[in-house]
Amino acid sequence: MNKKFLDLGLQPLANRYLTIKEKKMNLKEEFYHLLVNFNTKTKLISLSKKVEIKKMFNSSYPYKSSMSKTMLKSFRILSEKIKKKFNPKMFLEIGSNDGALIKNFNNKKVIGIEPCKNLAKITRSKGYKTYCDYWNLKLANKIKKKYKKIDLIYSANTITHIEKLDEVFKSISHVLTKNGVIIIEDPSLLECIKKTSYDQFYNEHIYLFSALALKNILKKHNFEIFDITNLKTHGGSLRYFIKRKKNKNLSIKSNVKKQLKKEIDYGLGKFSTFRKFGESTLKSKKDLIRILNNIKKKNKRIIGYGATAKATTILNYCNIDNHLIEYFVDTTPDKKNKHMPGKKIKILSYDPKLIKNIDYIFLGAWNFKDEIFKKERLFIKNGGKFITHVPSPKIINK
Ligand code: TMP
Repeated sequence: MNKKFLDLGLQPLANRYLTIKEKKMNLKEEFYHLLVNFNTKTKLISLSKKVEIKKMFNSSYPYKSSMSKTMLKSFRILSEKIKKKFNPKMFLEIGSNDGALIKNFNNKKVIGIEPCKNLAKITRSKGYKTYCDYWNLKLANKIKKKYKKIDLIYSANTITHIEKLDEVFKSISHVLTKNGVIIIEDPSLLECIKKTSYDQFYNEHIYLFSALALKNILKKHNFEIFDITNLKTHGGSLRYFIKRKKNKNLSIKSNVKKQLKKEIDYGLGKFSTFRKFGESTLKSKKDLIRILNNIKKKNKRIIGYGATAKATTILNYCNIDNHLIEYFVDTTPDKKNKHMPGKKIKILSYDPKLIKNIDYIFLGAWNFKDEIFKKERLFIKNGGKFITHVPSPKIINK
C-alpha cells in the first residue's frame, strides 16, 4: 500500500528553464502537485503523479554530467575499476548523457542509450554508437538482435527516472549475458533522509532507492545485489553491483548485509520514519525562509550558486523569488540567461565578478560544496558567506 508522507506543493518541471523570450511572453508553465509516497510492502519511495516522460527528456535537456569535475573524476575511477575487475566485451550504458563515462572506453566496445537528442548527438559525434531512445523492451529486442554479448550494463541516475521498473529489469535481463553484471548508481534514500535533503524530490526522480527496496524489485527478476559502494556524489549515492542469482562465480560481499542492516536500523522499512522526515522538511522550509528574510532585513545581497533541478524544488516549495535571491550563477552553457522554473529567478553564466560584491550565496548545488568552496576561496576570505539547507538551514563559511 502507498502511504503519502510529503507534500511539496505545486512544482514546475524541474529542468524546464525559461528562455528570455518565454519569460517576457509570460509563458504559462505546467505545474504538478508533488506528493511523495512510501510503499509499506515493497519499501519503495515514489512520486504519486508521474509526468509524461517526453515532457522531461527531449531535445533540449540541459543537464550535462561532464560539467562537474567531481562527476568526471568519479566516472574515471569507476572506468578503471570496471576494466580491471570485469573487463567487459560489450558495455551498455542506459542514460549515457554527454558521454562522461563512456568516453573512458574503446568506442567499439560501448553502446550508449540516451533519449535526449542534444546529448545523444554529442556521443555520436565522437564515434560512440548511441541509440536515441527510451530504455524499454522494444529497444532491448532491437539491441539483442544486433549484440549478443553485452556483459556489462551500467546506469547512473537514470533508472529512478523510469516509471516501469519491472520493464526496465526485464529488458536488462533480455540483453545481458548469463554471467553479465549490472552496475546501478543513484542517490541514497538513507542519505536523503539523514540530511533532510527533500530537494532530491522533483518530477524526474520518480523513485528514490534504498538497498532495501531495490533488493525487492530485483528479486522478481532473479537478480541480486552482490556488492555496494557508498559514494559522495549527488549528496550521497549508492553504487549497486548486481548479478543473476544463478551466477555463482561472484560471491556476495558482506557490505550488502551491512547496508541493509543500516537501513533497517535507521527505520527505512517503517512509515513513521518518513512521517518524521515530512515534519523535518516543513521545519527546514521555515528555518530557511527565516534566515533569508533576516539577511534581507539588513539590506544584504543574496544570490544562488548552481541553478540545479534541486533548487527548483526548494524555490517553489519555500516560495522564494528574486526579492530574496537576486540571481543564480551556473557554469552550464544551456542554462545561461534562462530563468529558474516557477519562480523565474534569472540565471547568469558563472563569472567571478558576479559574486564579488555579494554578501551571501545560497548553495543550490550543495552536493558540490567542496568543489565550490575550493573555487571560491577568495570570496570566503573576503568575508563572503554561504547559506545551505543541508542537513539543516544555516550560514556557513567552511
Ligand atoms: P546537479 O546538482 O544537479 O548535479 O547540478 C549541478 C549544477 O551546478 C550544474 O548546473 C552545474 C552547476 N555548477 C556550477 O555552476 N559551478 C560549479 O562549480 C559546480 C560544481 C556546479
